[in-house]
Amino acid sequence: MARVSVRCFGLAAGVAFAVLVLTGPNRVANPASAARLGKKIANVTLSDTTGRNVILYDLRDKKAIVVVFLSFECPVSTSYMPMLADMAKQYRDRGVGFLGVCPGEDDAAQVARHVRDYRVPFPVLRDPRLVAADAFQAEFTPEAFVLDGTFVLRYRGRIDNRYAARLRPNATVSRHDVRQALEELLAGKTVSEPSTQPIGCAIVREAAAKALGNTVTFHRDVLPILQMHCQSCHRPGEIGPFSLLTYKQAVRWGADMEEFTQSHKMPPWKPVGAHGRFLNERGLSEAEIQRLAQWVHDGMPEGDPSEGPPPRRFPEGWHLGQPDLVLTVPREMEVGAGGPDVYRCFVLPTGLTADRFVTAIEVQPGNRRAVHHALMFIDTDGEARKLEQAAQRSRAAPKSDHGPGYSVAMGAGFTPHGYLGGWAPGQVPYQLPDGVGYELPKGADVVLQVHYHRTGRVERDQTRIGLYFARRPVQNQLWPVLLPGRIPLFGIPAGANHYRVEGRIWIQQDANLLNVMPHMHLLGQDIRVTMTVPGGEPRLLLWIKDWDYNWQETYRLKEPLRVPTGTRFDVIAFFNNSEQNPLNPNHPPRAVRWGEQTTDEMCLVFLSMTSETPGRIRRTFRPPAKVGKAD
Ligand code: HEC
Repeated sequence: MARVSVRCFGLAAGVAFAVLVLTGPNRVANPASAARLGKKIANVTLSDTTGRNVILYDLRDKKAIVVVFLSFECPVSTSYMPMLADMAKQYRDRGVGFLGVCPGEDDAAQVARHVRDYRVPFPVLRDPRLVAADAFQAEFTPEAFVLDGTFVLRYRGRIDNRYAARLRPNATVSRHDVRQALEELLAGKTVSEPSTQPIGCAIVREAAAKALGNTVTFHRDVLPILQMHCQSCHRPGEIGPFSLLTYKQAVRWGADMEEFTQSHKMPPWKPVGAHGRFLNERGLSEAEIQRLAQWVHDGMPEGDPSEGPPPRRFPEGWHLGQPDLVLTVPREMEVGAGGPDVYRCFVLPTGLTADRFVTAIEVQPGNRRAVHHALMFIDTDGEARKLEQAAQRSRAAPKSDHGPGYSVAMGAGFTPHGYLGGWAPGQVPYQLPDGVGYELPKGADVVLQVHYHRTGRVERDQTRIGLYFARRPVQNQLWPVLLPGRIPLFGIPAGANHYRVEGRIWIQQDANLLNVMPHMHLLGQDIRVTMTVPGGEPRLLLWIKDWDYNWQETYRLKEPLRVPTGTRFDVIAFFNNSEQNPLNPNHPPRAVRWGEQTTDEMCLVFLSMTSETPGRIRRTFRPPAKVGKAD
């Protein structure tokens, strides 16, 4: 169930508090609300960001009025800001007025800042006591209301159908509901579809039940969970769309925390069925999930602050001390407010005059709100420089994103010499085991691929990375071994909704496996990697049942796994190339082949291994002659 999501909680006396409804709008597909349709909306007076009062009925010279309930903490809501701004400008000359309303919001300075950051061209009003939300019977942010010139409600619901569900945007938008309602209204017609179901964060209204007895309390029971599992991302300036530091913030998001933890969507962690085997694992225990749910059910009591832990401190600066080499993206990257996510590669020359071994890497995003994850590749052939030059010369680049480097689908745009691992929010940098390192040849470039998440406003970033070099000789070089799944030459057939792709390799010498990184694009659905030692049974290494291209992570094994000569690795993946896949970039679907573009597919697993014998790790697509029994 969704909850409100405004920035300032404004808990002044009498302000509405959280609801405890157990069947929320996101659990059951409830019908779109028709409340107030065809009725005149009562006049409301609210203050804008300058403290000036805005009276709804003052807009009586308009042909139509669009009132949108907004939250600057709800990701669905912020993602609409660029298009709402465009729409307001387009319709201004046609006599349509736009108003934004922030339910539960009381902090004028905060709203003013958001209005500036998101470049909102229409008034945004605070509605701390939910007067407007009640007048419209608004339930969500974002939720749009279209009134005619006499303040009669003609449309209520979503802005368009860009979302299939929260966290699930569609690849294409086929219905523009607010636009359609406006066009019909301006043409003097009746609105053909007056109500649709909005998708977003619910507006909190009713007072919480008084907590009784010896219940779960925030400070004693909930805060430790938030500190341990949520605050690495949910704190100011980080990738999480809202903060979970204080009691008020937790109450505001209480019901959502329950829903998103019970469905294992938060904290984000994709692998299933391989539990307890990764160092960088995120996740709550069942007991912790239950404790959060119990707290919400008990009315979210605060309890005694002295029973809680002190605030968690997050270290600033380099975690592992001053790096041996710091590489900084040469200029700021500017990422536009809306559109599909951006994958950008930056070429970072190392200037090394001797070969080195890298034992640890730390990525420091310049803007943690926008950097979703990063991957690092090694280029020894100047391939990335060529791609960068071509991109910088090209005039075809989208106007909204500019900066150094070049844009790619999801990879590096070329076949790299090596791979230096990846970074995702909340990950703490680590040293490789003793005697192990990634070789960084002299003169090589590090290619940093950053996945930027659009936030609804223009974001600027200048990421840097710190490299730590081995002090002592490295016996074991970390090699990336590629395990491809075979997408047929004719491609993944159009319309196939569960298309199986497989691949297998055999390792030709004794080795150790340190980490695993699967990679697919938008049609990927399910990916499983197994390892079979000669004469043994297949062992599950990693299984992601609900592939999400947003969380392409390097999964680090707790202990390196021994890989004897003749070990087989298998990948089995499924792709959904049907109309039902909301991320399908093609409508109607068409056959999708292997390739680097977002509209192409890939099925690849990077296995990082060290060899017990010197030299690059050899893999084959056939079993080795002597140890073929693993099949
Ligand atoms: C690794 C970073 C990370 C961690 C750890 C994390 N989150 Fe999130 N969370 C995110 C991101 C990023 C989003 C926004 C997703 C998007 O916009 O696609 C999000 C979204 C959410 C949302 C949904 C907001 C919405 O309307 O879509 C809830 C609720 C949430 N997180 C709760 C939690 C809780 C509770 C925890 C801890 C138990 C947690 N998160 C841990 C990164 C994280």
